[in-house]
Amino acid sequence: MPLVTTKEMFEKSMKEKFAIGAFNVNNMEIIQGIVDAAAKENSPVILQASSSAIKYARIPYLRKMIEAALEEHDIPIALHLDHGPDFETCKMCIDNGFTSVMIDGSKYDFEENVALTKQVVDYAHSKGVVVEAELGKLAGIEDDVNVADADAMYTDPEQAREFVERTGCDSLAIAIGTSHGAYKFKGEAKLRFDILHKVKELIPNTPIVLHGASTVIPELVDLCNNNGGNIPGAKGVPDEMLHQASIEGVSKINVDTDLRLAMTGAIREVFNSNPEVFDPRKYMLPARDLIEKTVSHKIRDVFGSSNKA
Ligand code: G3H
Ligand code: 13P
Ligand code: ZN
Repeated sequence: MPLVTTKEMFEKSMKEKFAIGAFNVNNMEIIQGIVDAAAKENSPVILQASSSAIKYARIPYLRKMIEAALEEHDIPIALHLDHGPDFETCKMCIDNGFTSVMIDGSKYDFEENVALTKQVVDYAHSKGVVVEAELGKLAGIEDDVNVADADAMYTDPEQAREFVERTGCDSLAIAIGTSHGAYKFKGEAKLRFDILHKVKELIPNTPIVLHGASTVIPELVDLCNNNGGNIPGAKGVPDEMLHQASIEGVSKINVDTDLRLAMTGAIREVFNSNPEVFDPRKYMLPARDLIEKTVSHKIRDVFGSSNKA
């Protein structure tokens, strides 16, 4: 089937209470690992590329590799721009076949974010493309941030309702305590499910997105560290919390860091135990396999999207 937008998969996710994994892609092995897992699980999937991933892989390559995935597999796949920084980047992706774009106006004040998001929504909708927007700040919320500052970072549910009404965005990323990368929490992991519940109460028909949602899987961190890596004290969002989020109103869960750890860990292990290896297929194959295994686990055991294609 051709690329799809996220509209139908999100409708199903809200009705049947599961989440769809949105996985960041940069190269062929990552794309193959993700779509092979999604196809085996018979799950819809979102492949997303950031503007730096686009710069690295280049749009024609990304597009053609994803076309190849569509040729091989009969599951719903959406191609999404992750963290679109401005109107021009969103337009470039829309004009190049992306079916979904994110405009990340979270760095601006509320009114500027509304205006920029609305501009992208108007263009995207005229081309049949859907738009994810963001409200709230995802900056790492650490133990030593005072309560007032931390509260200012979380999404305000009332503002979320006004934002969606005024922009017409199709989905909304909210800040409830996650952050990007491998160091999300200093102490215990904590998410503000109360904010998620309030947002879902006020805008029940808007699909909600969770960024910064890697588990930072301890086995993958150990695989890196035991093979010459140096990633001490890394910590992410536990599987149980992500599962809770997926049944309590989150429709899209973003994962990049866990894929980076899987790829790096697998490659490090080959290099460490077989220093004579220099054929890239000898280390890219285990890397692709570990990405597939990681994605399968998330789809099947955490997000609940198996057999929802
Ligand atoms: O949220 C950011 C994603 O992990 C993409 O990161 O901009 O380094 O490609 P990147
Ligand atoms: P992680 O860094 O937790 O994988 O988050 C990825 C993300 O939010 C991409 O937009
Ligand atoms: Zn993100």
